[in-house]
Amino acid sequence: MNKNLNQKLMQIYNSMYEKTGPRKWWPAESKFEVIVGAILTQFVSWKNVTTAIENLKRENLLSVEGICSVDMEKLEELIRSTRFYKQKAKKLKAFCTHVKDNYDGSLEKFFSKDIYELRKELLSMYGIGEETADCIILYAAEKPIFVVDAYTRRVFNRLGIFNNEKISYGEMQKFFMDNLEHDVALFNEYHAQIDGVGSNYCHSTNPMCGECSVYDICAKNGGKKMAKQLWKPSTILNPVPVVMVTCADKEGKPNIVTVAWVGTVNSEPPMVSISLRKERFSYDMIKETGQFVVNLATRKIAVATDLCGVKSGRDIDKFVATKLTPAKATQVNAPLIEESPVNLECIVRHRLELGSHDMFVGEIVAVHVDESLLDEKGKLCLDKADLICYSHGEYWTLEESLGYFGYSVTKKKNLKRNKK
Ligand SMILES: Cc1cc2nc3c(=O)[nH]c(=O)nc-3n(C[C@H](O)[C@H](O)[C@H](O)COP(=O)(O)O)c2cc1C
Ligand code: SF4
Repeated sequence: MNKNLNQKLMQIYNSMYEKTGPRKWWPAESKFEVIVGAILTQFVSWKNVTTAIENLKRENLLSVEGICSVDMEKLEELIRSTRFYKQKAKKLKAFCTHVKDNYDGSLEKFFSKDIYELRKELLSMYGIGEETADCIILYAAEKPIFVVDAYTRRVFNRLGIFNNEKISYGEMQKFFMDNLEHDVALFNEYHAQIDGVGSNYCHSTNPMCGECSVYDICAKNGGKKMAKQLWKPSTILNPVPVVMVTCADKEGKPNIVTVAWVGTVNSEPPMVSISLRKERFSYDMIKETGQFVVNLATRKIAVATDLCGVKSGRDIDKFVATKLTPAKATQVNAPLIEESPVNLECIVRHRLELGSHDMFVGEIVAVHVDESLLDEKGKLCLDKADLICYSHGEYWTLEESLGYFGYSVTKKKNLKRNKK
């Protein structure tokens, strides 16, 4: 699950929920009534569905046996209010006959199946599409599957989440399933809330944004009411890289220090800066030797990265404590970390006293790259390295690529080619 997307989805959900409270879906007295509602509601208002359900109740036919036993003409007549009632009558009959023939008419037996088997079976029935199948699974079988629909597509495109008017049912569903806890109550209420926003405010033309519960965070309005606060100056630039810097004293005793105040500062010659507090054990080593190595951090060595940022080389040998392996560099005496896929050997060219930190500007004099990160043409694929970064006190992986350098101005047909 992508934590950022989960937070965003929950923010949207909470905004919707706060305005209306629970929408108490699905409005039905029994599981079977949910199923009938799910089948009849296609292309028609809920009011008309209610009329049909009331007719079936009055005739004592709102059950698997009832629908199986009633003759087709009478069934069509009872559900006439629901548009395409002839097809819908056929669908009801097909569903009920299936349950009668295969599960002795017991919904309980039918629903005891695994969620995806159940979905497959529902989709194989006459007239049951994805949305109807998922409504039945979520609201009648009470299993966690996310129901999406045209409102979901419209609302989440306008919110700036999908950015794809043609996004398919499956893609939308996967997005929610991937980024939300699989919780029946949450899925139930979330779909109901989206339906509420879609039907009440987010109309296809002239949406009533001023009254909408997600107005403040909706991209269509530029998330207008962002309500910014004025804070005192601080180092809020985010995210930042996090690296393990290796160094060695004059006798060659090595140390590792975790550094987040690190950045590329020049291309020719290639240069990076690292900022260190004077009290760091590593500070004197780097100041005296004028050498250090920047080792990129990955998911695999994230714990070691943290440890090297909370323990001092004054007290422990961090290579021993982390079980990281020192390897010989080519241009400097500081060691490389073997488990890091990319190592930059650096020679200090400048030291700037900035206040709390001294910034060492190092020229990169050698770069080591793990061969497994190269493709067949020798191109470096850093996405394979599972690098981590640091944001607001937490370590993060880099999950998703949004585009490449210059994709904003690349023609669509070239974009496709580039994707391949
Ligand atoms: C994520 C993270 C980032 C850090 N970034 C810096 C930094 O940029 N500069 C710095 O002086 N200390 C930084 N520290 C703190 C040092 O890594 C920490 O004090 C370390 O124990 C010093 O080790 P040493 O005494 O062996 O040199 C960071 C710590 C962590 C956990
Ligand atoms: S703010 Fe407007 S565009 Fe955005 S979801 Fe609400 S109604 Fe739709």
